Amino acid sequence: MILDVDRQERIPNNVDLSSDWRLRRALESWQPKFLDWWKTQGPAHFGRNEIYLRTAVNPRATDWARYGHVRMPEYRWGIFLAPAEKGRTISCGDDAGKPVWHEVPGDRRNLIRRLIVTQADCEPASVEQQRQLGASAPSLYDLRSLCQINVEEARHLWSMVYLLHRYFGRDGREEAHDLLARQSGHEETPRLLDAFNQPCADWLSFFCFTCFTDRDAAFQLGALAESGFDPLSRTARFMLQEEAYHLSVGERGIERILRRSAQLTRLDPNGDARAQGGIDLPTLQKYINHWFAYCVDLFGSEVSSNAALYFAAGLKGRWDEALRYDDHVAVKTTVGVAHIENDAIVGREVPLRMAMNELLRRDYAADCRRVVGQWNDALAHEGSDFRIKLPHLRFYRRQGLYSGHYFDPDGHVISRCEWKRRRNDWLPTDADRAFVQQLMVPCLEPGQMANWIAAPSRGIGDAGIDFEYVRIP
Ligand SMILES: [Fe+2]
Ligand SMILES: [Fe+2]
Repeated sequence: MILDVDRQERIPNNVDLSSDWRLRRALESWQPKFLDWWKTQGPAHFGRNEIYLRTAVNPRATDWARYGHVRMPEYRWGIFLAPAEKGRTISCGDDAGKPVWHEVPGDRRNLIRRLIVTQADCEPASVEQQRQLGASAPSLYDLRSLCQINVEEARHLWSMVYLLHRYFGRDGREEAHDLLARQSGHEETPRLLDAFNQPCADWLSFFCFTCFTDRDAAFQLGALAESGFDPLSRTARFMLQEEAYHLSVGERGIERILRRSAQLTRLDPNGDARAQGGIDLPTLQKYINHWFAYCVDLFGSEVSSNAALYFAAGLKGRWDEALRYDDHVAVKTTVGVAHIENDAIVGREVPLRMAMNELLRRDYAADCRRVVGQWNDALAHEGSDFRIKLPHLRFYRRQGLYSGHYFDPDGHVISRCEWKRRRNDWLPTDADRAFVQQLMVPCLEPGQMANWIAAPSRGIGDAGIDFEYVRIP
């Protein structure tokens, strides 16, 4: 095995930190600030417990991570980039086909910095949003998933902060400082994106977040993995490797709640899962509607000159740009995008580059539909006739072409009056949220699950479901 990872260093890395003392010193002085942030804004519970966690140790190897019990504040957060691809060329835009950049091109400096900071800000934000969840974990297995995701989001922050320090000098150091100064939900210094300022107060929301919001992050990372600025591409590619687990926590978590809900519905003489202490299927549908709509907003406007700019500059490609497309310049084609005129849906052709946000959103929605298909298979397996349906991309939007108009979950235009009448059938009400919230009581005996969620089909790696994922003395 080629050992290109320095694990003995204060900051484990595969970026040869030991040969750049200036950079190393800058990052070592950021480290205690990061730890302070972790202690004050990170997980509020189980900081002293030993938790069975995966730690990234070598991006080059197939067994790239190590598993073992560690205390979260002692986690070895490292800076890892995916291995460089020899002869890689810029995959999109005006410079498609030319060699990638290994340093920041002067004329694109601000664009690249903005991309990095926007992505980076979401990483600590999600840890802050999930800060209180440990206290109501439905099982040790789930508590461990939460902690795993939290430490990895913090590692993503490390990777992005490395890029800022290494390539952006004083500006980069200031941005790295601000990443710890902003705070999710703070009145004066909130996180950059609105979706990252809402607390994630219950475990149903956590699973929706990891299924839908982390998937948005994965699609953004996929677009950044196509970047002509090679260090950003390599950073994004390794983050994607970790992100896959986060998505699976969300998908499988919701599937387990759906299964349990179907079981409790069957058990109850009146078919009422709530009466049996579970979450009923219509409420689950409402949460899915809410989270999907919230997350499709994160992709930005359907027609966007910013998106065109990033694509033209070779900084953000389409999903699987290099593999899926032949025309990487994308100036001769158009894409059909529905517009709303006088309350009617009108198809319009938009220059392809201007529709890059929308293309990524459609790929995202297709992936979400695949997941919903799996959930419905699970429901059928439980003998339930209920089927989950992903709402239309126009439903309940607060940004882009469809905001300010009203649509039903199938995407049909409806009146404001009709929206008001039906809203509570489609989205969680305060009463729904209060109901879900009161189910959130901790269940911390090894192998036991809270009543509202089914056990996972298997444990982590070789460990069984009743393994002591978190040691509670
Ligand atoms: Fe992340
Ligand atoms: Fe994630």
